[in-house]
Amino acid sequence: MSDTRWDRLLLNATLATFTGDAAYGLIERGAIGLHQGRIAWVGRMDALPDAPHALAAKVESLDGALVTPGMIDCHTHLVFAGDRSHEFDLRLNGASYEDIARGGGGIVSTVAATRMAGEDQLFVQSLIRAQALLADGVTTLEIKSGYGLDLEGERRMLRVARRIGRELGVGVRTTFLGLHALPPEYRERRDDYVTLVCDTMLPTLAAEGLVDAVDAFCENIGFTLDETRRVFERATQLGIPVKLHAEQLSDLDGAALVAEYQGLSADHLEYLSESGIGAMAAAGTVAVLLPGAFYALRETKLPPVEQLRKAGVPMAVATDCNPGTSPLLSLRLAASMACTLFRLTPEEALRGVTVHAARALGFADRGTLAPGQRGDLLVWDARKPAELCYWIGGQLLQQVWLNGEQVLAA
Ligand code: NIG
Ligand code: FE
Repeated sequence: MSDTRWDRLLLNATLATFTGDAAYGLIERGAIGLHQGRIAWVGRMDALPDAPHALAAKVESLDGALVTPGMIDCHTHLVFAGDRSHEFDLRLNGASYEDIARGGGGIVSTVAATRMAGEDQLFVQSLIRAQALLADGVTTLEIKSGYGLDLEGERRMLRVARRIGRELGVGVRTTFLGLHALPPEYRERRDDYVTLVCDTMLPTLAAEGLVDAVDAFCENIGFTLDETRRVFERATQLGIPVKLHAEQLSDLDGAALVAEYQGLSADHLEYLSESGIGAMAAAGTVAVLLPGAFYALRETKLPPVEQLRKAGVPMAVATDCNPGTSPLLSLRLAASMACTLFRLTPEEALRGVTVHAARALGFADRGTLAPGQRGDLLVWDARKPAELCYWIGGQLLQQVWLNGEQVLAA
């Protein structure tokens, strides 16, 4: 007779489920069953329906260790070539991000390096960054294009992003960010570039199955509201969800625009207005907070966290891993910074890298510990969830489970 038991049963765990009404959805002396890559059962050990070995083929005790869902990094630009450490120097000497961009540095300098790199070279350089995120608990991540800015370059980035997912077994969502910066060859022809993005690049890459969402950099040094609307219109026609870099350096009303398109998320938001918050709340658009960029740019204007909280807008937290404004390779550190810099509670920050981050990517099958969810779990050398935000650095992560299989042990 075939074995109908679960594949695994983990016993004596402190489970931060992020479901239900309790703080962190915490279950002490908990158990979690895994079967065929998914979570089969979650609850208190004393509520298990049978003896452990009658329930699962393999049983192990975690000795009280904390278990959380795999963390989800819902905003990264981690596929790129080269680095921009010289800009770090320039900024420390007083240059602003805008000054550097207007002077031909910034995003377009990474575009030059990325266009030069072959697909394998881009893959090898970017894989290292994805591995670093995984080593601190990221089991699903979003990766944006936006350093190719021509059909071939954007395609290469998105293909590399997908390949990273296959190589590591992590979940990858790809976002097309054709409107990231104006490529130098279109300096006198902005409109033609937007047309190329809307009429050629986006539909071609979407047809190749490389686009899960569409994003734009709506900013004075990026693209206008009208240009952003054009790409959102095309995405909507193609049935692709949208998100937006909005209100990072100034208030252009980008959050209201993305909300008008029922966007998944509006990201950054330091300069977000009251009306933008209202529009996001009404549309169910997630606010993605990016403390790494706030920190690296030495920004002083805080995102309106208290007003977002009051309006009931879900807040996610992400690394924004990129070579210019956020060379950050730990989502757990981003959660810590969201507490220290933005005054999120540790529970809000941890919901922000799990359940709300899943929503910012349109995922319903991950981000919590509940039956039916993907078997993506983290086992930590910690007893209380707040410790994950409290410790700055250190090797807290003990085990990573992806799709019901243990892939990493400290
Ligand atoms: O999220 N602001 C636009 N995009 C990135 C920065 C990209 C870069 O500077 O290379 C961001 O901050
Ligand atoms: Fe970004």
